[in-house]
Amino acid sequence: MGTLDGDSAYKLLVGAVQPRPIAWVSTISREGIPNLAPFSFFTVASRNPATVLISVTQRVDGAPKHTLVNASEMGELTISIPGRGDLDAVQVSSEEVGPDVDEHQLAGLETLPSDEIAAPRLAAAAISLECVLDRIVEVGSDHLILARVLKLHAAPGVFDARHRVDNSVLQPLARLAGPWFSTVENAIPAPSAQRAGA
Ligand SMILES: Cc1cc2nc3c(=O)[nH]c(=O)nc-3n(C[C@H](O)[C@H](O)[C@H](O)COP(=O)(O)O)c2cc1C
Repeated sequence: MGTLDGDSAYKLLVGAVQPRPIAWVSTISREGIPNLAPFSFFTVASRNPATVLISVTQRVDGAPKHTLVNASEMGELTISIPGRGDLDAVQVSSEEVGPDVDEHQLAGLETLPSDEIAAPRLAAAAISLECVLDRIVEVGSDHLILARVLKLHAAPGVFDARHRVDNSVLQPLARLAGPWFSTVENAIPAPSAQRAGA
């Protein structure tokens, strides 16, 4: 891998590591302009304290992405989980527009104020995580944003009383390689769960 150019390495890695969940990240700039962008290099970093991470590359012109700048300057972000009906809006919100453009508005998405932080959250999201910045770690060409989750908002029916998620309600959207996305409609139970009749 070390001898490959960045683009080839990227293509191999996004082919190897899929499907990937999508963090739809809302931040607010120092000037008070909200920002929204999707990130599929996204996972749980720690259960306790509850911490998630996203990996951020550079904009096409080489400048830092607004999400990284805002998270580092303001120390806050919300992460919403897009559903299958959000594909168009996810795509629109990934456009590399200027810092004065609010991609929530560009994508026609309503926001709500967060409870614990200034960054807004998506009103229609089935799940939103209110987060504060834990740290930013430079890894090679990119930056990891590690974010501690202060509060999780879930729409009715997404979790049951035992905190089990209902994917028929959440309908999470996943990122594959190239232009492809996926849903989780073909989920299959583990053989042990099948034997137990779950
Ligand atoms: C589904 C999807 C997933 C993406 N995942 C990432 C990612 O993991 N890391 C990244 O740096 N950019 C990713 N992008 C590109 C960013 O969303 C895009 O560069 C965006 O304009 C960044 O916005 P910002 O400068 O407002 O932060 C992704 C785009 C899409 C459509």
